[in-house]
Amino acid sequence: MPEFPYSRLRRWPDVEAENLQAHDATDRLLVDRAVALAAERKIDGAQIAVIGDEYGAITLALTDAGFPGIRVHQDLATGRRALARNAEELGVEGFVSHELDGGLLADARLVLLQLPKALAELEEIADAVARCAAPDAVLVAGGRVKHMTLAQNEVIGRSFAVVQPQRAERKSRLIVASEPREAPERPPFPVTAMHDGLTIVAHGGAFAGPRLDIGTRVLLEVLGLGGDAGSSSPRAENGTAPRGPVAADGGSRTVLDLGCGTGALAVSYARAHSDARVIATDRSAAAVASARATVEANGVADRVEVTHDDAASEVADASVDVVLLNPPFHLGTSVHTGAATRLFEASARVLRPGGELFTVFNSSLGYRAELGRLVGPTEQLHRTPKFTVTRSIRRP
Ligand SMILES: C[S@@+](CC[C@H](N)C(=O)[O-])C[C@H]1O[C@@H](n2cnc3c(N)ncnc32)[C@H](O)[C@@H]1O
Repeated sequence: MPEFPYSRLRRWPDVEAENLQAHDATDRLLVDRAVALAAERKIDGAQIAVIGDEYGAITLALTDAGFPGIRVHQDLATGRRALARNAEELGVEGFVSHELDGGLLADARLVLLQLPKALAELEEIADAVARCAAPDAVLVAGGRVKHMTLAQNEVIGRSFAVVQPQRAERKSRLIVASEPREAPERPPFPVTAMHDGLTIVAHGGAFAGPRLDIGTRVLLEVLGLGGDAGSSSPRAENGTAPRGPVAADGGSRTVLDLGCGTGALAVSYARAHSDARVIATDRSAAAVASARATVEANGVADRVEVTHDDAASEVADASVDVVLLNPPFHLGTSVHTGAATRLFEASARVLRPGGELFTVFNSSLGYRAELGRLVGPTEQLHRTPKFTVTRSIRRP
């Protein structure tokens, strides 16, 4: 059989660059091991589940190799779109996408996992596999050696009696886990925490977990939404609060929490402004599930809509009065800072002329000039050595 054309896979709509590929050595190791295990244990495609398949390499290569019916879960909206597009381009069909739930895992005998970065996310996944998959299920988890830690073995070991790290190959390593343990009565996630009257609910993969991120806290305070967000705050009266222009039709203000994580900004805003229509959106399914649960827990489900989307692509141009943004923070390559730039561009697109973007970022990042260029006049509302909060007014 000809080799699967991995090099034809694309990352789009995720950031693309010459040095970034849509597959890695771990994908190939997982695929090769899956083919061997499936033959050895007589496992068919419908008994295989794939979790964390970034751009579809694992699902598509296995489907192409004669395993129809594979179930796949991807956290990111961008990954889901890339998989769909790659499948169409390569003419591969016959797999089914799922959320991280019983539908993904019921009766699965082989679960392939690209290891997530966060241990909490791994813990939630390992528990779900042990809880929902077949009693003889094998979990094969893989990652780049430089990102792997012994703590990952320990976390997997809470859900599987046998955990066997394999020899590294091409700078990647697989961990094979078998003999699922009996799952505790309650899953370990989501978890809940209270912060001055605000309840935050978090799944394992959500940014900052059930904590209130320090940057988020600073933004809430500057907006007059800190502390008990339901009460009016002196800051809200002094001009820094995001009143925004009156909606064009004279109706209620539309506010967008862009990259909402667990939904702390959206929910705090909705609690303090009962007349506002709030949209909270994130590209991570774990964030979306967390934000929906946070919205419910704070009793604002009638005013906050939560969507799984990439850079608010489903929000109409010039339809929003206020954007609240704590962008992804990455040190390192220009490709990584591109993630924040995408959200600045999205803000410029969805804001009405005169609409306001409130952003918090690490003071070392100097985003102010970029915000000025992409969105409009940008003033600094607050600055500490660590964080800067700005307000940008969408230029007409
Ligand atoms: C620093 S966290 C902030 C989360 C939340 N707003 C808070 O303040 O706690 C950034 C969030 O942006 C999300 N994100 C990154 N790129 C995105 C994109 N292209 N579209 C939507 N969300 C994105 C991440 O998944 C993450 O939840």
